[in-house]
Amino acid sequence: MTLQIRSFEAYQRVYARSVADPEGFWAEQAHTFQWRKPWRQVLKWNFREPRVKWFVGGRLNITENCLDRHLEKRGRQTALIWEPNNPSRKARKITYRQLHGLVCQFANALKAQGVKKGDRICIYMPMTPELAVAVLACARLGAIHSVVFAGFSAVSLADRIKDAQVKVVLTSDYNARGAKNIAVKQIVDEALTLGCDTVERVIVHQNTGDPVVMQEGRDMWWHDVIKGKRKQCKPTIVDSEDMLFILYTSGSTGKPKGVVHTHGGYMVYTEFTFRNVFQYEEGDVYWCTADIGWVTGHSYIVYGPLLAGATTVMFEGVPTYPDAGRFWDVIQRHKVNIFYTAPTAIRALMAAGDQWIKGRRMPSLRVLGTVGEPINEEAWQWYHERVGKKRCPIVDTWWQTETGGILITPLAGITPLKPCYASYPFPGIQPCLVDANGKELEGDGVEGMLCIKFPWPSILRTTFGDHERCRQTYFATFKDKYFTGDGARRDAGGIYRIIGRVDDVINVSGHRIGTAEIEDAINKSPNVVESAVVGYPHDIKGQGIYAYIITSGPVADIASFRKNVLDTVTREIGPIAKPDKIQVVPGLPKTRSGKIMRRILRKIAEGDTSNLGDTSTLLNPEVVDDIQQGSKSL
Ligand code: WTA
Repeated sequence: MTLQIRSFEAYQRVYARSVADPEGFWAEQAHTFQWRKPWRQVLKWNFREPRVKWFVGGRLNITENCLDRHLEKRGRQTALIWEPNNPSRKARKITYRQLHGLVCQFANALKAQGVKKGDRICIYMPMTPELAVAVLACARLGAIHSVVFAGFSAVSLADRIKDAQVKVVLTSDYNARGAKNIAVKQIVDEALTLGCDTVERVIVHQNTGDPVVMQEGRDMWWHDVIKGKRKQCKPTIVDSEDMLFILYTSGSTGKPKGVVHTHGGYMVYTEFTFRNVFQYEEGDVYWCTADIGWVTGHSYIVYGPLLAGATTVMFEGVPTYPDAGRFWDVIQRHKVNIFYTAPTAIRALMAAGDQWIKGRRMPSLRVLGTVGEPINEEAWQWYHERVGKKRCPIVDTWWQTETGGILITPLAGITPLKPCYASYPFPGIQPCLVDANGKELEGDGVEGMLCIKFPWPSILRTTFGDHERCRQTYFATFKDKYFTGDGARRDAGGIYRIIGRVDDVINVSGHRIGTAEIEDAINKSPNVVESAVVGYPHDIKGQGIYAYIITSGPVADIASFRKNVLDTVTREIGPIAKPDKIQVVPGLPKTRSGKIMRRILRKIAEGDTSNLGDTSTLLNPEVVDDIQQGSKSL
């Protein structure tokens, strides 16, 4: 077993050791796993190129560690509990042995379709057990999975398929979410008309059974490809540094980039964090409400829990269907011990009213977690009092797609809690705060940009197909440091509070979206000349999307103009990127060099116009008043 930290003193000791001797420390953790060939060297790195390699020369397969390794001891233990969208349908329980069989069988099916090590497989599926099976089957063959959240549009999906030069797409007929039945396969069909020339095969899982059109020669049913396939499949043994998956995420500029994680380090880090952050105990039922389309689902629904031999719950639906008591129903029904969700869900359930949680007994709950965005004090207190009945610690876990696993976090029941603080760095993580000049800020009571000084096993290795972009985005801003894009504060004793993004990325309901991406989409709408998008505080979503738009002429029908914009954004990105507020403006405040002054737009969007700063140096100071006036009437 990897090390289990049981007290705050132990945490301090372990942390000190992990910094003094990172290689020795991580090698000890890695020994828990099954390696087919031992590593020659623990770590090779520089943040200049950057080049980071962990467990160099080691060979393994992560699914052997997720599944085969557990068969003897826990073959009959439930690995996965699937809670369907429709509460009157029965939940599905899959044991470790059954999951092993399903993964092997689908891996054999993929192999028969010509999938081999290094091929990119795009997975665009709803939250059904087959999604987890698909992910693991790819890993079993050393194929690289690229899961795309099934809420993204055909255009977004096509961009991701093209960027990764995908060979096979795995999808489902429909996605049952709340009262909706989304035609997922149809979205794939549309995406594949947009120049995805590398795709040879589409495999469709029959989920709801509603009718779909299958394209002869290209599309095959999941149940047909697995027919007659054996439930044993030798894992393809890969190098520790071979790619495990690509996951696209948004940044300040350009299209989303494909963050790359590799087998060895990712395995060691996700298992170790999972067990220690949540203080997982043998036999616990663990539920993370994220979607596998995001990194949280990769690391803490699939890989981390399965590597640790836990029982992981997968939920197909949404928190408010059929009513705002659904989460609590699921916790009661499956006797969930550890519950991990996002602040936006907590705020939405809090806003739905206390009647949904009042009088609920959830004695199984022991640990609560949050992730994805800063949690406000009110939501933290509600979560603590109403959900955890004041007896469950809350772990506010800070991390990113690029970090692969949790980096700053309390350890449940061990670290003293302070609401809204992600608190201390996890063992092996060396954070620092820097000012705009890259100067490291010393001491407590300081605020700056959050960087990490030393690699950890699951740090991103590259951005797919464009290593220079990886260097530029994360390693060029501050010399010899990984730059997170977040601002943070360090207080007495060295605890961290994450403030939020300092770049042009906004966090809407815990989803990362680049403002430039939304602007590009809006600019494709009829009559739009230029746009600028900023975030503003939103009671439920954390941040809302505020779009300032210059049109090519007067807008006669504002309602239909807005509808066009929303439809365009939905078509280009997906419903999650739809602006909450749209304001038609005569111009955008620009500097003399033509750069949009987003600071001013942010202030106006926040409704804070008392101190707009000096606007006299603008190219067009007169537009500021106009924009302010218009904003008031929104
Ligand atoms: C934000 C999600 C405050 C942060 C795992 C980060 C958080 C971005 C927290 C990454 C937290 C994540 N407190 N902010 N506990 N966790 N964030 O890549 O801005 O989808 O940079 O990964 O979410 O989002 P991503």
